[in-house]
Amino acid sequence: MTTVTDHVHDLGQSARDNEQEDAVPTDTLTIPDVVDYTAEIRGGALVAETLTITDNRTGKTYEVPIKEGTVRALDLRQIKIAEDDFGLMTYDPAFMNTASCRSSITYIDGDQGILEYRGYPIEQLAEKSTYLEVAYLLLNGELPTKSQLENWQYTITHHTILNENFKRLIDSFRYNAHPMGRLIATMAALGTIYPESKDIFDESVREKQIERIIAKVITIAAFNYRNTIGMPYSYPDNDLSYTGNFLNMMFKMTEVKYTPNPALERALDILFILHADHEQNCSTNAMRAVGSSHVDPYSAVAAAAAALYGPLHGGANEAVLHMLKEIGSVQNVPDFIKRVKSGEGTKLMGFGHRVYKNYDPRAKIIKKAAYDVFEVTGKNPLLDIALELERIALEDEYFVKRKLYPNVDFYSGLIYQAMRFPMEMFTVLFAIPRVSGWLSQWQEMLNDSDQKIARPRQIFTGSPRRDYVDIDKRD
Ligand code: CMC
Repeated sequence: MTTVTDHVHDLGQSARDNEQEDAVPTDTLTIPDVVDYTAEIRGGALVAETLTITDNRTGKTYEVPIKEGTVRALDLRQIKIAEDDFGLMTYDPAFMNTASCRSSITYIDGDQGILEYRGYPIEQLAEKSTYLEVAYLLLNGELPTKSQLENWQYTITHHTILNENFKRLIDSFRYNAHPMGRLIATMAALGTIYPESKDIFDESVREKQIERIIAKVITIAAFNYRNTIGMPYSYPDNDLSYTGNFLNMMFKMTEVKYTPNPALERALDILFILHADHEQNCSTNAMRAVGSSHVDPYSAVAAAAAALYGPLHGGANEAVLHMLKEIGSVQNVPDFIKRVKSGEGTKLMGFGHRVYKNYDPRAKIIKKAAYDVFEVTGKNPLLDIALELERIALEDEYFVKRKLYPNVDFYSGLIYQAMRFPMEMFTVLFAIPRVSGWLSQWQEMLNDSDQKIARPRQIFTGSPRRDYVDIDKRD
């Protein structure tokens, strides 16, 4: 029997019949029998896929269905102590144990360290696919045929030009404006020139905006960078791949035609594949929540990017580099680890994950890609500090006990820095490919008849009703 608190009174039938006159009711729920939802036949007998709940406040018993390993929170609303009672709610800050949607896009097994997009293991996609192919897969559910891929690449390539007026918008940012602030603002503004984008239930309109956003996000990122360093804008080159084109818009100098280094172009493509989606993380949840109000996708993507900006999410790759710089040398690593363990406000950035309680599979692939990049660029001097941090942390009881392993952000920053991306742009490099994941999840949400405007409940902890006090009568 599973009980919800330590102090459950086991109300017998007679107590229930007496409507609790004799028993002291407790504010508890007893869950007498949790049926394993996977087992339809147990010991030869058919068992119900239900959960039986006894409300110890009333003695009443309820049976709620278990579907796909979950109970529906709304099924608990029937559990009431009086007719006019609102009914039982669940309290789950930060969605620690709540599925907010059904999704067929990305599968993660955090204990095993497994990540799959539409069923395909991330390792295979990173080895064999390209970012644009993966974006197609995420959006459409299947890998494209050869001609579908050619069309898709052509379409994305031919949507990379940004409306010329946007140069004035970008010019208006302060010289040191953070690239994520610039990205968020420019993306939100982009929606204003495509008013038809509000028509989110027209499939062809939706498709066009998805193409525009995936194509133009690299132009937005690169133009904002060029503006920061006072360089003329470098326009898209349709002969180049998605990542090659991005490198061209970032780094082209006076040469007539920019030729990206193929090893760096491929490494960036792999990083984009790894970052494309990660099921219901903070920014995807923002995309779905904001999108559930039926706002246009540019505004929803801007909101998702804002969520990504935070140092606990996509901002961690930048934070890792600041941390490595602050540590300064391999000799200082043990002291730093001591500080982290003492809880003096410092975390080991790039370590730990809400879902992975094992090595993040993306971190493994990135670690290998880092060596490929360093062969071209020379080793990033911070690598030795990162390796030593990882070595000590993986042996240390504090990290082992808490199942803290390197996550996707631990090594990605080292690669970006070796490729000459400024540190402030690291989160932008996370946002660019994640746009395809956000849009896939947004589209899935719009087509899901279970979904409505996201609107959680609360437990009100404020003052009871009271009368307004005139200002001269206040203490
Ligand atoms: N360094 C030191 N201690 C940590 C760390 C860390 N990086 N991460 C978690 N812990 C400790 C935490 O203090 C807590 O200890 P205790 O039980 O003694 O209170 C325990 O581990 C559990 O941590 P939590 O904060 O309850 O875990 P969470 O699931 O709420 O947080 C996290 C997940 C990713 C926000 C957190 O691990 C973290 O802040 N990591 C550093 C930032 C980072 O690298 N973020 C990138 C995440 S991956 C990419 C992405 O999603 O954007």
